[in-house]
Amino acid sequence: MPTSLNRYAVIGNPVEHSLSPQIQRMFAEQTGIAMTYEKCHAELDKFTEAVQQFRKQGGKGMNITLPFKEQAFELADILSPRAELARAVNVFLFTENGKILGDNTDGFGLVRDLQHNHHCVLEDKAILLLGAGGSARGCLGPLLDEYPREIIIANRTLKKAQALADEFQRFGSVRACGYDDEYVLDPEDGFDLIINTTSASIQGEMPPLANHIIADGGICYDLMYGLSENPFLDWADSESADIIADGLGMLVEQAAESFHVWHGIRPDTGSVLAGLR
Ligand code: ATR
Repeated sequence: MPTSLNRYAVIGNPVEHSLSPQIQRMFAEQTGIAMTYEKCHAELDKFTEAVQQFRKQGGKGMNITLPFKEQAFELADILSPRAELARAVNVFLFTENGKILGDNTDGFGLVRDLQHNHHCVLEDKAILLLGAGGSARGCLGPLLDEYPREIIIANRTLKKAQALADEFQRFGSVRACGYDDEYVLDPEDGFDLIINTTSASIQGEMPPLANHIIADGGICYDLMYGLSENPFLDWADSESADIIADGLGMLVEQAAESFHVWHGIRPDTGSVLAGLR
């Protein structure tokens, strides 16, 4: 194991299937930065120990994946404003004076993928955000930064959506509702963008959406990627959504932003995304 080289890793459980090493190596090659990037499996109750050990062995930074993003938020000594808002951390930078800087590039990655790769304009658009868990929270700040007309957060458990809407409405028009709410069942002009942040797709399910709620030219986006079947994206197809996207682009874009946090260079993502597809 190299100790003096720029050493980075993704930590998670499970972490075996992570695409991050492949993506970061492509960025390193493209930019000519010498670094190694490995997978670090941590036991569920040994996250802090695993991070400290990696740092002691010369680690310069890490990506954090499920289920450790909230623990990473707790462990960081210094938080970026976007990590503070997301209450989750997916990037660590170990500073020279021994501090852990925690950042969150997930929401940035989503917005960047939408705008840059899918040429989506978010300003003045009506957005339906499905789910009110950690993933939804991470998306809200960066989406609201783009001045959408409104964001409706729909969730099975209404009070979780309500809590998120209460917290984020200082940044723009956000409201909460259940899936049986008139607002979701029969929106006046349809939604320009529907983002599925729920974990329903993993279970082969999707939130109970009505038909004909996508506006002309509308986009349907699922944060999940790599699933053999995705009922939400199938539904989007049957509803003739203009653009249908999984979360692979978001994964690559959040990785590029992590790379920027570590090295101050923004790699080109298009070629990497095309390579993965
Ligand atoms: P994450 O951190 O990935 O967001 P989470 O915090 O566990 O994970 O949140 C999962 C989200 O998926 C929640 O909004 C959950 O709805 P509830 O808050 O009502 O539990 C949603 N979810 C999971 N399975 C779902 C399903 N089958 N249908 C609709 N929503 C689902």
